[in-house]
Amino acid sequence: MTDKSSNAMWGGRFAAGPDAIMEAINASIGFDKRMYAQDIAGSRAHAAMLAATGIITDKDAEAIGEGLLTVLSEIESGNFPFSTALEDIHMNVEARLKDIIGEPAGRLHTARSRNDQVATDFKLWTREQYDAAIQGLEALIGALLTQAEAGVDTVMPGFTHLQVAQPVTWGHHMMAYVEMFGRDISRFKDARARMNESPLGAAALAGTGFDIDRHMTAEALGFDRPAANSLDAVSDRDFALEFLSCSTICAMHLSRFAEELVIWSSAQFRFVALSDRFSTGSSIMPQKKNPDAAELIRAKIGRIMGAMVALFTVMKGLPLAYSKDMQEDKEQVFDAADHLMLALAAMTGMVSDMSANTEELRKAAASGFSTATDLADWLVRELNLPFRDAHHVTGALVALAEAQGCDLPELSLEDMQGVHADITAAVFDVLTVENSVSSRMSYGGTAPAQVRVQIARWKEILS
Ligand code: ARG
Repeated sequence: MTDKSSNAMWGGRFAAGPDAIMEAINASIGFDKRMYAQDIAGSRAHAAMLAATGIITDKDAEAIGEGLLTVLSEIESGNFPFSTALEDIHMNVEARLKDIIGEPAGRLHTARSRNDQVATDFKLWTREQYDAAIQGLEALIGALLTQAEAGVDTVMPGFTHLQVAQPVTWGHHMMAYVEMFGRDISRFKDARARMNESPLGAAALAGTGFDIDRHMTAEALGFDRPAANSLDAVSDRDFALEFLSCSTICAMHLSRFAEELVIWSSAQFRFVALSDRFSTGSSIMPQKKNPDAAELIRAKIGRIMGAMVALFTVMKGLPLAYSKDMQEDKEQVFDAADHLMLALAAMTGMVSDMSANTEELRKAAASGFSTATDLADWLVRELNLPFRDAHHVTGALVALAEAQGCDLPELSLEDMQGVHADITAAVFDVLTVENSVSSRMSYGGTAPAQVRVQIARWKEILS
């Protein structure tokens, strides 16, 4: 006889139940209850398949299917007695099913193991997060496209080394992020296509002697096919690692953009006004309006990349097939997914609400001799100077302007001719920021006409 307190699911060969500490380190129900819907969907598909293949009766499968729906509604209404002694969501659901329908519940675990069950549940859960990330990114791109369209002619400084480099447009800058978040979408999509194979029916690790139909359960759960190797099926967590990797890259993009918004919204820059809805005040300084959302988005990479590193470290060196180490996978993905979705939503809200300060942007664009390259290019085009000589002449003109405390367009023609005698008044045309940006017509360049082409392309992609 086994001790009453030993586990009802695997207590057959045990004389005593686990120590309280053992139970505490072993249990995952505290977090894996988030996968209840996936667990129940997986079990319903499995039961239906067991009946279709004649492994259990239709009557038992029906009782199991119905009973699982009752469990589902109990969990959703908050009336489910989750038990730590039952370790995890799989055993909690099955034990409750037994309470509700009795004997047939014991037939559900035929030709299945918690190893393929947990891999299936976790894949289904993570697959939804791939879709949520793609959706969140599409919404963000939509908001960026609206900003880009409104600011296609708005001139702003482009930076290298955070020093004013050349004039660009607001639209062009927004579209740079569209490209980055567009690559994120394509990464999530690639990984989603790769991960969509069903582990169910791999059983503990070796497959099963029952004549199951893995294609049937794969299809019922929206997988493209059953995973082709049972050892790999139960031990693979690439789908979680890829989710975390894609999320880390996306969080890095969000962080860069958030950093720009923090800088741009400062009193020193005043490039952008963030809405009250996405800012906070200070409890001591009444005048303050802080870009907290942007700062928090900037920080999210910390925990998301942390989750990625944590799971890679867990998986590293694990022998095939299942090891309990792998129970440490879920919290990392749960946390990263929660915070990535929140960051995407917050960024989308912030971008939708923010307004570009056209005047400040233009003023800053014209500062710092930002059209010096246009001047050098003019010397090449009109006076046929080699670019290196033109660069030198332009440098002398910049030094002259700096000495006079003015910008390049404010130098007199005489002063310019003092540096190079052949310069004509036509040079002033290329020194305006508007002409500078509209001249940059190379494919992918900042000219409004080019940016419009890219906006149209992205609208087409998203439609
Ligand atoms: N709670 C476990 C996990 O998250 C489920 C699988 C348990 N399998 C086992 N052989 N003990 O990984």
